Amino acid sequence: MLSERMLKALNEQLNKELFSAYFYLAVASYFKAQNLDGFASWMEAQAEEELGHAMKFYDYIFDRGGKVELERLEKPKEDFESPLKAFEAVYLHEVGVTQSIFKLVKLAREENDYATEQFLQWFVEEQVEEEATTKSIVDKLRLIGDHSQGIFMLDRELGARKAQLRNLMTQGV
Ligand code: FEO
Repeated sequence: MLSERMLKALNEQLNKELFSAYFYLAVASYFKAQNLDGFASWMEAQAEEELGHAMKFYDYIFDRGGKVELERLEKPKEDFESPLKAFEAVYLHEVGVTQSIFKLVKLAREENDYATEQFLQWFVEEQVEEEATTKSIVDKLRLIGDHSQGIFMLDRELGARKAQLRNLMTQGV
């Protein structure tokens, strides 16, 4: 059974993960409007991953006898000055999520909730990867600067990451 504090904090994180999906979809929409379909596809896949993260919290809360409470999601930022600014916002978003996961781990320790601490380990590792991936794209965009050819090459590279759900839907599965 989860303590009241732990349940509240896990529900907050679930809502943050849902907001992350919402945010990534807004960034995808920005790229789509710029005709940068590869960047957009990368963001769409990220949005799906975030929904997966939210579902991990959803399942875990019920597994521990709690109840999920959904909150209203704020409107995400959807306009950016450049691809670099968009990816900088994404990187900073992930840094914020990492801090939020660390706070949850701290709380789990305070509550002597070893099961939740263990559950959160997956997210601790995931955040290392998310920060590293988004930071490396920020670095590439900084190197590319205003060179449109570089942007198009990176667009092609990022386009290789496809949103799975979308693929399944277009295949009629
Ligand atoms: Fe679910 Fe990107 O953190």
